[in-house]
Amino acid sequence: MPKTAALAPMAGVGDRAFRETCKEFGACYVVGEMASSKGMCYQSKKTAVLLEVSELQRPMAVQLFGGEPDTMAEAAQMAVQYKPDVLDINMGCPAPKIAGSGGGSALMKDPLLAGRVVRAVADAVKIPVTVKFRKGWDDQSVNAVEFAKICEANGAAALTVHGRTRMQMYAPPVDRNIIRQVKQAVSIPVIGNGDIVDVPTAIQMYEDTGCDLIMVGRGALGRPWVFAELQHYFTTGKRLAEPSLEKQMETMCRHIRLACHYKGETVAMREARRHVSYYIKGVRGAAALRAAASQLKEYKEIELLAEEVLKHSKL
Ligand SMILES: Cc1cc2nc3c(=O)[nH]c(=O)nc-3n(C[C@H](O)[C@H](O)[C@H](O)COP(=O)(O)O)c2cc1C
Repeated sequence: MPKTAALAPMAGVGDRAFRETCKEFGACYVVGEMASSKGMCYQSKKTAVLLEVSELQRPMAVQLFGGEPDTMAEAAQMAVQYKPDVLDINMGCPAPKIAGSGGGSALMKDPLLAGRVVRAVADAVKIPVTVKFRKGWDDQSVNAVEFAKICEANGAAALTVHGRTRMQMYAPPVDRNIIRQVKQAVSIPVIGNGDIVDVPTAIQMYEDTGCDLIMVGRGALGRPWVFAELQHYFTTGKRLAEPSLEKQMETMCRHIRLACHYKGETVAMREARRHVSYYIKGVRGAAALRAAASQLKEYKEIELLAEEVLKHSKL
């Protein structure tokens, strides 16, 4: 695998429009938003949207969550009909709604069941099955190394490790040491994840862990060009300058236009409010602009807002 960077799965923000935008900037691999295995088996339309694969996004994984091996196997068979390159299993989500029903990070408390889930899914499909998990449930039960070995023994083709416990949710610091320990304990590729936001943090993840690939989540929100920065550095050894504010606003508009195209303006604009607040973070007059962003309803307002941002920057 080349030393560049993958886009992390992000429910609610990492949709097709965002993933394609990141891919265009050089993300070498993207993972779709988590989809419920139960939702798939009940043929929920909402779940099906989460599994959309397009040529532009390849190589791409779709991600499933759930704690019942049979349901996960059935959902996996349905998911491969969307023709993903990889099927990823979410064993790291800390959200009470997911973990409370036995999926996501709850599986870290029951590694043997996790192993059965991996085995059932790996046996059900022909594409590579990967697992994304955390350091452990809490500081008293750090078990990422044992967990990784169980996943590998049950057919996982690669692992992504987010170096935090479930109880830490998203609070820093990320533990790169545990990622290194996992990397040393298994022979399948390991993807390092957590708090990578730029070239220095990317180098740190590669160097401290020896991981095969890095994965960027929140660092790409409002900054999908972070993938261009990483790709440029890891292929040339040189740093790329931050894009101009004009280019940044152009990217924001194109991203949201794409979302409107895929989801329709009503849904896309509701979701765009969150993206826009990331894109304008730190720009001059951001507080007033953010208030405007929270009211966005139509695409044309995004272009007006972009003009406002540029105007403020010249004041
Ligand atoms: C808004 C949001 C949604 C997320 N959704 C998912 C998800 O669907 N599946 C998953 O495995 N992880 C999910 N995560 C976790 C990220 O993939 C990633 O592991 C975590 O954010 C740490 O990486 P980062 O520091 O680069 O953001 C989500 C994180 C955020 C912030």
